[in-house]
Amino acid sequence: MRKVDPGKIKMAGIVSIVSHQFKTPLAIIKGYLEVLLSGDCGEINVSQREYLSDALENVKRMSCLIENLLDISRIEEGQFKVKLRAVALEKITEQVLKNLSTWIKANNCDIVLKKPKRLPRVLADPDKICQVVQNLVTNAVIYKTSRGKVEITLKKVNKEVLFICKDNGVGISRKDFDRVFSKFYRSEDAIELNPSGSGLGLYISKAIIELSKGKIWFTKNKKRGTVVTFSLSVAD
Ligand SMILES: Nc1ncnc2c1ncn2[C@@H]1O[C@H](COP(=O)(O)OP(=O)(O)OP(=O)(O)O)[C@@H](O)[C@H]1O
Ligand SMILES: [Mg+2]
Repeated sequence: MRKVDPGKIKMAGIVSIVSHQFKTPLAIIKGYLEVLLSGDCGEINVSQREYLSDALENVKRMSCLIENLLDISRIEEGQFKVKLRAVALEKITEQVLKNLSTWIKANNCDIVLKKPKRLPRVLADPDKICQVVQNLVTNAVIYKTSRGKVEITLKKVNKEVLFICKDNGVGISRKDFDRVFSKFYRSEDAIELNPSGSGLGLYISKAIIELSKGKIWFTKNKKRGTVVTFSLSVAD
């Protein structure tokens, strides 16, 4: 093993080491909470179920934050890698919407997906693009004050496929269109609507899209809300 002088470990390295140290204990706590909730260790009453479910939700949130911090330290160390291959963006989008469907309904939101009959495959890393789509959809669903209406459009323009997500939420002011991609940036509205967010999703999404040779940007929705678009190159 390569010996590293502890005094020379940079901040990203420290974050990475600490995050790795958190991963195993969190996985163990999550496992025990799931076993207790399953009732395999004895029946639990309603309030016990409530407390355990709450604890499990928070452990899941911490695991997610740790994954994000690990991604960031990899990005900053130049170690974040994408494995590009031909993938069907509409399949990934449909899968993400399916996985989130109960949560989307519970959050008082309707989502429609518009796509042509045939869409060429794009060059991307499926797991990583799934992460991007998930972050954009969750942002569109969360950052609103009334019933959410989200429209996702997939279309081919020249040699690229565009993913366009339009929402009717609180919106982002034009001067912050670039700022939202910086680490830990969160608007006042966002902090109020989703206190547990970390402001890392778009930073990571931008890194993924740019490593996939695409682009990601925000524009205003005509009346209210936001439009976020990313582009990826056609593979076929
Ligand atoms: N669709 C949207 N409508 C309004 N504001 C948005 C939208 N998407 C992003 N933002 C703003 O950009 C900020 C950064 O978004 P990002 O996804 O990076 O972080 P987050 O959602 O706050 O936390 P997390 O890291 O858990 O995703 C948000 O906090 C919010 O202020
Ligand atoms: Mg987010």
